[in-house]
Amino acid sequence: MTAPFTIALAGKGGTGKTSLTGLLVKTLREKGKGPILAVDADPNSSLPEILGVSVNQTIGDLREDTLDNISELPPSLSKSSYLELGVEECLIENQGFDMLVMGHGEGPKCYCMVNHILRKYIEMLRKNYHYVIIDNEAGMEHLSRRTTQNVDILFIVSQPEPVSIRSAARISQLVKKLKLRVKEQFLILNKVRRDLSSSLEDEIANTGLSLLGEIPEDEELSQLAVEGKPIWKLSSHSPAQVAVECFLKKLGENFSQLHHSFRRNSSG
Ligand SMILES: Nc1ncnc2c1ncn2[C@@H]1O[C@H](COP(=O)(O)OP(=O)(O)O)[C@@H](O)[C@H]1O
Ligand SMILES: [Mg+2]
Repeated sequence: MTAPFTIALAGKGGTGKTSLTGLLVKTLREKGKGPILAVDADPNSSLPEILGVSVNQTIGDLREDTLDNISELPPSLSKSSYLELGVEECLIENQGFDMLVMGHGEGPKCYCMVNHILRKYIEMLRKNYHYVIIDNEAGMEHLSRRTTQNVDILFIVSQPEPVSIRSAARISQLVKKLKLRVKEQFLILNKVRRDLSSSLEDEIANTGLSLLGEIPEDEELSQLAVEGKPIWKLSSHSPAQVAVECFLKKLGENFSQLHHSFRRNSSG
């Protein structure tokens, strides 16, 4: 299989990254675009709840377990094989999408060797999918090289408020400063209630980002969160999902060709 088309999400806390990750997985799955890998790269995320899955082991748990058990591994089992099996155990398999939870960050130990091997296996795993969607942590300091790498599109999610838009601009600048391998960045406005004012439009223009789409404030979506229900319960004609389908179409000219046409557009 060819390299997966990778979409990562960033933005200030509460802007809707996790909800949008859920909406992207739902939309792509309903359009038969699987296999999809959803990566939860936020230790505090509610992505498992939104996708209706339960998590047994995270990559963070695996990293710690490996270091704790390294001296007790049977001689026949190399560290590399132990980690390869561990990554497989961390993978939560579903119909049409799988999920990997990165889990908590690193403690005080030395993780270089483990991280090196883990990266290799996660990279191999990614190749089994058409789409990889990565829900990142809010803080800019967490736009790490580990999860925001080999990204085709970064969606920077913002609410239609100056503070949130300025935060999106800082994230965008940081991505460039850190030289993260991100092909394209777009601004997505979420929880939009009314037409954008001209001062807000100026604020957006100052970010240098192109505004790909606006997702309206969606009563049904917020109600799901209140009731703790997964995204699958959201009706496909809900305003938020319709908006996501609309900007994915815009991105790929033709939804069925998102993968190929975007690759063609961005290389041309
Ligand atoms: N378009 C929307 N309409 C209504 N509520 C939304 C919308 N997008 C997100 N929310 C709500 O906003 C809250 C924060 O969203 P979340 O996706 O967890 O943000 P983040 O991951 O960026 O912290 C949640 O309660 C979610 O249900
Ligand atoms: Mg989140």
